[in-house]
Amino acid sequence: MKFQAKIAQPDAVKTGCIIIALFEDNQLSASAEAVNKACNGYIAKLIERGDAKGAAGKALLLTGLHGVEAERILLIGMGKKEQTSAKQFMDGVEAAIAVLKESPARDVYSFLTDVTVADKESSWNIRQQVEVSYSALYSLNRFKSEEKSTIALKHLHLSTRDKIAVAQGAATARGVAFAKELGDLPGNICTPRYLAEQAEQLEQKFSRIKSKILDEAAMQELGMESLLSVSRGSRQPAKLIVMQYSGGHQDDAPIALVGKGLTFDSGGISLKPGAQMDEMKYDMCGAASVFGVIQAAAELTLPVNLVAVIPSSENMPDGDANKPGDIVTSMSGLTIEILNTDAEGRLILCDALTYTRKFNPAAVIDIATLTGACIIALGGKTSGLMANNQPLADALLDAGQKCGDRAWQLPIWDEYQEQLKSPFADMQNIGGREAGSITAACFLSRFAEDYPWAHLDIAGTAWISGAKKGATGRPVPLLMQYLIDHCDAQ
Ligand code: BES
Ligand code: MN
Ligand code: ZN
Repeated sequence: MKFQAKIAQPDAVKTGCIIIALFEDNQLSASAEAVNKACNGYIAKLIERGDAKGAAGKALLLTGLHGVEAERILLIGMGKKEQTSAKQFMDGVEAAIAVLKESPARDVYSFLTDVTVADKESSWNIRQQVEVSYSALYSLNRFKSEEKSTIALKHLHLSTRDKIAVAQGAATARGVAFAKELGDLPGNICTPRYLAEQAEQLEQKFSRIKSKILDEAAMQELGMESLLSVSRGSRQPAKLIVMQYSGGHQDDAPIALVGKGLTFDSGGISLKPGAQMDEMKYDMCGAASVFGVIQAAAELTLPVNLVAVIPSSENMPDGDANKPGDIVTSMSGLTIEILNTDAEGRLILCDALTYTRKFNPAAVIDIATLTGACIIALGGKTSGLMANNQPLADALLDAGQKCGDRAWQLPIWDEYQEQLKSPFADMQNIGGREAGSITAACFLSRFAEDYPWAHLDIAGTAWISGAKKGATGRPVPLLMQYLIDHCDAQ
């Protein structure tokens, strides 16, 4: 689907469909007013009769309206005029797309750009329309024998001059879709090697992206015993995937994104229970979000330098797998007693965090489906955020708040570090039942002392379980907002 910023006249534009907003208490948006005038008050009559409603999320599709050039008119309720909330706006956009998915309209003009959303800038309105509509059209159907897309919608014009917002929305939306697809792909296809190939393909596509794949021998050379201990139980060799995007000045310190890329987490010898174990193919969603962001940044040629470091492995039970009680030496030299082989994310991330030092990063953000405890603490709506640097944490919280892909901070005070004390090694890889997300972050913090660092635990937000099972592409929107804000502040 293509998106374009283009100012148009709602009654005069020749197109498959126009989308216009109605409000509660019989209020019309500016574009609805124009259409109402052109069709001799027909819209007002529909409202009066109760056919059209301004309540948020209500949709009514009209065809063949006299006085209007568009073939169809889609009326969307947006709540109280001048007070539409962010959620009401998104509900409205979703309702519009749900109708358009069933419609033969290929070419559509949205005039929802004239809706004022409470506490949001006008660019938010535009980006959300692009992101929500692109997301609604995503599906992974390459494994279905007879699934052809029957959706006619190909081109969404937004009546605005803000080309930048449309471009940012489109790049973010495609980044989200890329992350969703990598997440939804099964573990037998999306292996560490497959992820490595994605990096090589991005390098082919964008001149500003360079990629480098470290194989197990190269990691051995660097002393990444902790990471390699996780992949030892798997037939799939681990990869350390490195991408560099150069959009800033040559000597600008990069922002590093470190993504957990566990392409399947069985738990290892500390085997997980069978129910829903398939969902552990999503244990690479941190990595997927990094791919989405690198692609989106390159599409937008954002003026910033980025480094992506993705440790990728499977976690499987095997005669050669980690055993509870094993002790490994990480690349940093710190030793780790592995009490639970299912706490493997931190074992691969710690070596990736140590490796990331060599880029002298201005900031490091790791993204990981790290702990089930984070789902208990924050549920599926909010990502967990932990950091050793408050300005960085604040920038990420603020970015999430702005775009609606929100995170909430948990403390990593020194008191929690004690839970990681091991009788035999420098630390153990689990901290007991209490504060599981925090102790996981405390573990990582020991490898991130040399730079400003933040950790996003996306265990609850990266995918949805149940009948609508699927990856969400989060936190690509949060990270894109953070990077866009970072570039704006330069
Ligand atoms: N990938 C899981 C975390 C996870 C579990 C994410 C369920 C989403 C849904 C991680 O590797 C893991 O298994 N963590 C353990 C840690 C524990 C052994 C300290 C967990 O959360 O149970
Ligand atoms: Mn695990
Ligand atoms: Zn895991």
